[in-house]
Amino acid sequence: MSALLRIEDVSVHFPVRKGVLQRQVAEVRAVDSVTLSLEKGEAFGLVGESGCGKTTLARTVLRLVDPTSGAIWFDGQNISGLRGKALAPYRRRVAAIFQDPFSSLNPRMTSGQTLREVLKVNGYPGDIPARVAELLTICGLAPRFAELYPHEMSGGQRQRVGIARALALDPELIVCDEAVSALDVSIQAQIINLLEELRVKFGLTYLFIGHDLSVVRHLCDRIAVMYLGRIMETGTSAELFDTPRHPYTRALIDAVPAPDPVGEEAREHVALKGEIPSPLDPPSGCVFHTRCPIAMDRCRAEVPGLTRLGGHHAAACFALETTAGTPAKKE
Ligand SMILES: Nc1ncnc2c1ncn2[C@@H]1O[C@H](COP(=O)(O)OP(=O)(O)OP(=O)(O)O)[C@@H](O)[C@H]1O
Ligand SMILES: [Mg+2]
Repeated sequence: MSALLRIEDVSVHFPVRKGVLQRQVAEVRAVDSVTLSLEKGEAFGLVGESGCGKTTLARTVLRLVDPTSGAIWFDGQNISGLRGKALAPYRRRVAAIFQDPFSSLNPRMTSGQTLREVLKVNGYPGDIPARVAELLTICGLAPRFAELYPHEMSGGQRQRVGIARALALDPELIVCDEAVSALDVSIQAQIINLLEELRVKFGLTYLFIGHDLSVVRHLCDRIAVMYLGRIMETGTSAELFDTPRHPYTRALIDAVPAPDPVGEEAREHVALKGEIPSPLDPPSGCVFHTRCPIAMDRCRAEVPGLTRLGGHHAAACFALETTAGTPAKKE
């Protein structure tokens, strides 16, 4: 396996301007020094509380937002500096699925019209009506759905059309931003199963953003946990869920209701205190220190880097530096 997408030390800071002169008075640090690699064919999950920068990072990968610094590499090419026409080949190889297909699908166009338009605008060389029927079938919709408008379909069916549109040009990477969050739980499972099936069938790579940890865990091979624009911990789903090492990851996992209430009682709880600070004025040092149950003086002054913990596992926490080297204890 080799990296299809590499996000290299990417920061995205939005200027906040005021007054007639529109002078910059502050900046929102939406994404701060994020480095991630996605292997070809893997589903990579990105989780974290609202406002931590997930969508901003996704939009940066999609080249809808410019990174303030850092670079995005796709299949060996640095695409962060590309503009206009030079971006066209990249745009064909990367697609997106958003949370609410109601707002991302044109209400005045049938599914068929939406799909035909994507194919036409991008100069699809084959038989367009045949491709539309094929895309609908691939996504589990009968060809008659081509005639339906968004309001004539259920949420799950609309999301299937959203997926068909994403697949239209045979992309390699699909960025899924809260793609199932708006759906009922039973429908979520169907859409997740479809995404999994499509990944295998077409060798797709996913950057899957979600706030429901159980969904992300089910679909993703590896996961990164974000907090206030930074990566706190990353690892395989098993590494992260079975042996979370960062206090923030532990708190996030603890917030998920356990399916087994007996095991739940036996677990050590880490409750998060306080509110998430403003990205306009993030805390000094480790951005999590204001809510961390084990914060030390050093955490207020220095920014911890990601410490490798073996396997794919890494976490950004000074407490680990004192424990990471200790042998014997089972991780
Ligand atoms: N265009 C923009 N201009 C200024 N600030 C922005 C802009 N886009 C996002 N932000 C800010 O950046 C921060 C990160 O927002 P983002 O939407 O990336 O978070 P998120 O993790 O996707 O949240 P959610 O889970 O609610 O979708 C927020 O504080 C947000 O207000
Ligand atoms: Mg978002």
